[in-house]
Amino acid sequence: MPPPAHDTPSAMPDSTANDAPESLISCRNVIKRFDGRTVLDGVTFDVHAGETMVVMGGSGCGKSTLLRCMIGSHKIDSGVIELFGQNVCTLRPEEMDDVRKNFGILFQSGALFNSMSIAENVALPLQEHTDLDPSTIEIMVKIKLELVGLREHADKFPAQISGGMKKRAGLARALALDPRILFYDEPSAGLDPVTSAEIDRLIVGLTRKVGVTSVVVTHEMDSAFTIADRMVMLDKGRVLRVGSRDMFDELRRLPDDQAKDLPEEDRLIRQFLRGDAEGPITERKAATSYAEDLLRQPQTAKPIGPSIEATRGWGFRRRKETLP
Ligand SMILES: Nc1ncnc2c1ncn2[C@@H]1O[C@H](COP(=O)(O)OP(=O)(O)O)[C@@H](O)[C@H]1O
Ligand SMILES: [Mg+2]
Repeated sequence: MPPPAHDTPSAMPDSTANDAPESLISCRNVIKRFDGRTVLDGVTFDVHAGETMVVMGGSGCGKSTLLRCMIGSHKIDSGVIELFGQNVCTLRPEEMDDVRKNFGILFQSGALFNSMSIAENVALPLQEHTDLDPSTIEIMVKIKLELVGLREHADKFPAQISGGMKKRAGLARALALDPRILFYDEPSAGLDPVTSAEIDRLIVGLTRKVGVTSVVVTHEMDSAFTIADRMVMLDKGRVLRVGSRDMFDELRRLPDDQAKDLPEEDRLIRQFLRGDAEGPITERKAATSYAEDLLRQPQTAKPIGPSIEATRGWGFRRRKETLP
């Protein structure tokens, strides 16, 4: 059986766009280095209007860095990132502020102000960025809280609500200015499976209800397959593949006897999607002998987190049990 067809290798423009859908985000050959260490290495892909694009890959492969580059909070070393057709790398700060009003961000923690009620947290962007009168803001806050199922909890403080509710509140705040794009970094991190499934349903529901375009960074495969229209897989700062959820799903479901003849890259993607304990990711990790590994240790150890080489050990949170 031939490997499933896919959209693009990393350096090529994303060609899912046969009928040229509108691109709200475009990344072209994005390179980002930290202290000379290349963390994003020629990342190229588009996000189309109205879709949910999931960015996946092992821990440390550059997902959060990519997201921060997209929202203009990290400067890239080369390449181009366009949001709504504007190159965010060359915008003046005040121009970037205008672009910022058109996107919302939900970071891992939800990042609420603890001294403010949920309603006050959601009202804040409206007070800061609009001239709306308080009674209009109050109505808008109610609408956003209703969207995330928190209207009855408007007057509670962050310390009085659960982790899942904090995420919902963060989401209501991210939605306050009716953004065209929502960015999420690991939206279900730290939540139990039931709550995390609830957040996934909320993301899917929001895309339908308000038509927002979403970029979701995650390494949670169940979550990724629930919410994605398309997916981009990163590996060591490079795009391994961009494609539809169905394309990745076909690869994930391919039986072992058919998968063994796939090219190494397809087997690697399949192993990650399935969370299998055995496959090219683990083989590549084991390729260095124990002795070599020990001897190399002093040179590779760096005070500021793992190097790009260290991302070889893809971080699985869940693995299929293959041991007896
Ligand atoms: N501000 C920073 N300064 C230096 N190194 C960083 C910084 N942010 C991230 N890194 C490094 O970049 C790599 C990718 O990190 P990150 O994008 O957070 O990965 P992911 O989100 O995929 O887990 C890691 O090796 C990390 O240590
Ligand atoms: Mg991250």
